[in-house]
Amino acid sequence: MTQPNSANVAQPSVQAENSLDRVLIFDTTLRDGEQSPGATMNVAEKLAVAKQLARLNVDIIEAGFPFASPGDFEAVQTIAAEVGTPQGPTICGLARATKGDIETAARAIAPAAKGRIHTFIATSDIHMKYKLKKSRPDVLAITEEMVGYAKSFTNDVEFSPEDAGRSEPEFLYEVLERAIAAGATTLNIPDTVGYLTPSEFGDLIRGIKANVANVDQAIISVHGHNDLGLAVANFLEAVKAGARQLECTINGIGERAGNAALEELVMALHVRRQYYNPFFGLPPESEAPLTHINTRELYKSSRLVSNMTGMFVQPNKAIVGANAFAHESGIHQDGVLKNRLTYEIMDAQMIGLNDNLIVLGKHSGRNAFRTRLSELGFELSDQNLNKAFLRFKDIADKKKEISDRDLEAIVNDEILQVAEHFKLSLVQVSCGSNAQPTATVTMRMPDGTELTDASIGTGPVDAIYRAINRIVDIEMI
Ligand code: KIV
Ligand code: ZN
Repeated sequence: MTQPNSANVAQPSVQAENSLDRVLIFDTTLRDGEQSPGATMNVAEKLAVAKQLARLNVDIIEAGFPFASPGDFEAVQTIAAEVGTPQGPTICGLARATKGDIETAARAIAPAAKGRIHTFIATSDIHMKYKLKKSRPDVLAITEEMVGYAKSFTNDVEFSPEDAGRSEPEFLYEVLERAIAAGATTLNIPDTVGYLTPSEFGDLIRGIKANVANVDQAIISVHGHNDLGLAVANFLEAVKAGARQLECTINGIGERAGNAALEELVMALHVRRQYYNPFFGLPPESEAPLTHINTRELYKSSRLVSNMTGMFVQPNKAIVGANAFAHESGIHQDGVLKNRLTYEIMDAQMIGLNDNLIVLGKHSGRNAFRTRLSELGFELSDQNLNKAFLRFKDIADKKKEISDRDLEAIVNDEILQVAEHFKLSLVQVSCGSNAQPTATVTMRMPDGTELTDASIGTGPVDAIYRAINRIVDIEMI
């Protein structure tokens, strides 16, 4: 078992960041994002996402919750070793405020050049009474002891009072003051249940800055869920009040309705920087970026996370949705053709759309193919590249141009199918002008047995999916 001080975690210069004239982007796609139903990723998939997050230039990657499972531990450790280089992002592991969690997180982040432990305990009355069954003095004592314990492994300790949004402010101030005194260098304020409104969140941050005596020794961070669709608006208000770290996820994935979306926060701070600059003490006309994100990597990051998690991005999603830069109505198209600024507030190229100069087709070679895949966030082994390249050539013979979507489908079909659990063995559909669409489906199950079922549907495809759902036991509405 690792002992305090033996985890050998490098010490970043947290103090130097205190007078920030920009915000730090703390990406929690691999931790909070991965907690969303159906978004589970294996170690290889998490590593691919972490590498893309490094290209995106996020400041901190919360790579997982190492105590939660051996798989989570392995993912955090692998990311710490491969992505946590001296020039790379800080790698963070989540830990409840217990010795076991903290020690495990310390071991997982140890290979990183810059490692952070993020420890948390709930501070709202409802959480303390029903979930923790602990009193306020208990929580104060645990905070002090466990932040100090985390500090024995690394200088970079983040503390979160879970459900801060519903915590009694005076008690919250006391907990935060103790956490800083025990060594926390980042204070993260979570709106765990997505309850606050923007002005309330701004007031909460202002209250903390005004009432926590030693607050200058820490960076204020925010974390928030999107239950009322307010997470991004809440964060932007918190930035105006002095928050300088934003905890967010690609495509806004996360527990329940998700977290604040990274791409929306970054582009809001970029497109509207003249509005936000004064809150950073900058003149309105300053062109200095308010984040260090390489915005040209946003679209690729979105596609990669969507592919790796299987969570689709809604077409009307801000910034990265398929329709975000599409103009359909005649009046809008006419305006854009005359002058793009009539209906566009940002350039699609800023997020990395349309900057793909090489068109892949049947004459393209392996190198162009590998390069484009890597731009999309897929780093394949030679063996997997060969497999995918054969499929690419096959499709390129039938189709003139191969789009990024085609490439994603090739990688998904040829490479990522290792995690496949069910195999479609047979599909039969019958339909006609006087017959209800009916499908019969046979599937090979993970244990090797074959199951057959049939269903009617509103059309042939619907009938097939209904039959599949009957076999795998998913209820249809
Ligand atoms: O939502 C939340 O409160 C969290 C904490 C662990 C920061 O995810
Ligand atoms: Zn959360």
